[in-house]
Amino acid sequence: MQLEAKNIGFRYHQNPWLFRNFSLTLNSGEILGLKGQSGCGKTTLARILAGYEKTLEGRIELGGAPLPKVGYRAVQLVFQHPEKSVNPRWHMRDILQEGWQPDDELLARFGIQQDWLSRWPNELSGGELQRFCVVRALSPETKFLIADEMTAMLDAITQAQIWQAILELAKERDLGILVVSHEKELVKRVCDRVIELDSVHLERNSFIS
Ligand SMILES: Nc1ncnc2c1ncn2[C@@H]1O[C@H](COP(=O)(O)OP(=O)(O)OP(=O)(O)O)[C@@H](O)[C@H]1O
Ligand SMILES: [Mg+2]
Repeated sequence: MQLEAKNIGFRYHQNPWLFRNFSLTLNSGEILGLKGQSGCGKTTLARILAGYEKTLEGRIELGGAPLPKVGYRAVQLVFQHPEKSVNPRWHMRDILQEGWQPDDELLARFGIQQDWLSRWPNELSGGELQRFCVVRALSPETKFLIADEMTAMLDAITQAQIWQAILELAKERDLGILVVSHEKELVKRVCDRVIELDSVHLERNSFIS
């Protein structure tokens, strides 16, 4: 299966175009890096690929068809700030199990302790909370994961642990992953291929890969 952006173009309101005629293909099982200067549109692109924002030009296709409008999102987005993506009034168990029921073995792989399940989000550290957000996104129905600076706020050990668990799972399930990151070392270590969203070139409507 492929997740494809075909000649997409986007800008906010009447601002200059962030990108136009931009295309990318992410294959199942592939770990693709996306880098680029701050403000060049990586998060915007991530949101478009996951179906949270509509592209103004071109189209997004999943397995050759438009992203489904209803049902489970096969393209899941996890971003930098876990505290912004959980309901502060829900216990962690409910947050985790909203979309699917991960088993204890998977929780252990991501270093999630059982007693964290009965806590509120504000009773966990950022790194602990992010583990929940990652696992929550990894239902068996997930085909592609968009990781937007997903481990940027974590220490090196936590970052390595989370990525190791994700890469193992990606291999087992043939998941495709887009890794949006400023961290050169991380990108070099985990990605099969890296593309750059370069604002100068994008203004000229071309794309470096
Ligand atoms: N809702 C919005 N309305 C107007 N402009 C926006 C909106 N969201 C983002 N922008 C602008 O669009 C541009 C691209 O933002 P985006 O968050 O996609 O960049 P980025 O490449 O992810 O940056 P960073 O590396 O800092 O995360 C920025 O100039 C930003 O200010
Ligand atoms: Mg961003």
